[in-house]
Amino acid sequence: MNPGPMSATTTTPGRRYIVQPARSVQGEISVPGDKSISHRSLMLGGIAEGQTSISGFLASEDCLATLAALRALGVFIERPQQTEVRVHGVGRDGLKAAPRPLDMGNAGTAIRLLMGLLAGQRFDSTLIGDASLMRRPMERVAAPLRAMGARIDTDAGKPPVRIHGGAALHGIDYSLPMASAQVKSALLLAALYAKGTSSVTEPAPTRDHTERMLRGFGVAVASEAGRISLAGGQRLRGYEIEVPGDFSSAAFFIVAGCLAARDGLTIRNVGVNPTRTGLLTMLRQMGADIELQPHPGEAPEPVADIHVRACALRGIRVPEALVALAIDEFPAFFIAAAAAEGETLVTGAAELRVKESDRLAAMAAGLASLGIECQLLPDGLRIKGGAMRGGRIDSHGDHRIAMAFAVASLIASDPIEIDDVANVATSFPGFPRVARAAGLTLED
Ligand code: S3P
Repeated sequence: MNPGPMSATTTTPGRRYIVQPARSVQGEISVPGDKSISHRSLMLGGIAEGQTSISGFLASEDCLATLAALRALGVFIERPQQTEVRVHGVGRDGLKAAPRPLDMGNAGTAIRLLMGLLAGQRFDSTLIGDASLMRRPMERVAAPLRAMGARIDTDAGKPPVRIHGGAALHGIDYSLPMASAQVKSALLLAALYAKGTSSVTEPAPTRDHTERMLRGFGVAVASEAGRISLAGGQRLRGYEIEVPGDFSSAAFFIVAGCLAARDGLTIRNVGVNPTRTGLLTMLRQMGADIELQPHPGEAPEPVADIHVRACALRGIRVPEALVALAIDEFPAFFIAAAAAEGETLVTGAAELRVKESDRLAAMAAGLASLGIECQLLPDGLRIKGGAMRGGRIDSHGDHRIAMAFAVASLIASDPIEIDDVANVATSFPGFPRVARAAGLTLED
């Protein structure tokens, strides 16, 4: 294979939001499709037999990087509309070597799950990404894959990740050292290509979209007391996947509603898989008024309309058991904590330091610059709710930091300028439009 240029792509820092203080949000909105489910539907559809039709697909930069990677691996994919995708699966052993390194952009889920998928192929692969992804830890996936027999090199634990093809994989019985759905999912994908049965034990429950979707493709997956097992050699059959709205995108508006929806705000058609909705538990513990109206018959992923109404929030100590169930929602949650009466304490959340940015440090710096008292801990944040002023925020190129501080405009006394917001397009294309529809005064 031609290795091609090995330099990481760079994300052009750019664009900013200026958000004027607004005092209310209301009405009905919907958010784009779920990112985790969209990535998985492409990868599993790619190695299935027959066609997989995906509706509600998230047409964001991250998921389009996965789509481009699968095309480069020889999968024919049609996209009759932005959010409609037809994947013509090549079968378990039908992928072909990509002509160049696969550039996963900003997408941690894409690179890690693909490591698992590609570890058992006959051909070599190289995975790279943007400046943020090139700094993120990959050994958490590479090490257990090597224990299954894979041959993988990282650059001191970071991308580029080079996977040498032709390795014979065998089953593994692995206890995850951290609660990570990406690592679990990568190992389950590799397990499809391994001889014998593989088991992964989680220290705490994490999102289970891979397990649910594998079953939808006809794969037998056992899941009991935090141990997920799968026998190698199973084949996947294409099927129809409806991707619900992304709870992690809805989270910004759930928090916005708690702060300022005096007449109520409804977010329609949101995935409410219980391994994703820790934020609802945390906000309810703070006193939030949130109701779910479940959609009937939406298996395998539960879906609901979410109704939120503003009310006074109280600071809480977040139970550590909820952290993995709300891992992507902390930037939004910290804004709710800043608006609450009293102190909020989050611990056991060191994983936030290795996301698209160090989210603990980025949120602490941003909140402090808006006048909120907060203490950065090695594995969390202590935040004292109080009056917020306006100011200028560095999003560190992290989509969720940018969107969280846009929501902060509902409680700030003056405008908030958020720099470097281009990466919002990695997960939530159209965020400014939806934010304005809800009532935020956001210029982009
Ligand atoms: C994801 C898992 C989580 C999450 C990420 C998406 C997934 O990462 O933060 O945004 O789709 O599996 P970790 O597994 O690293 O916690």
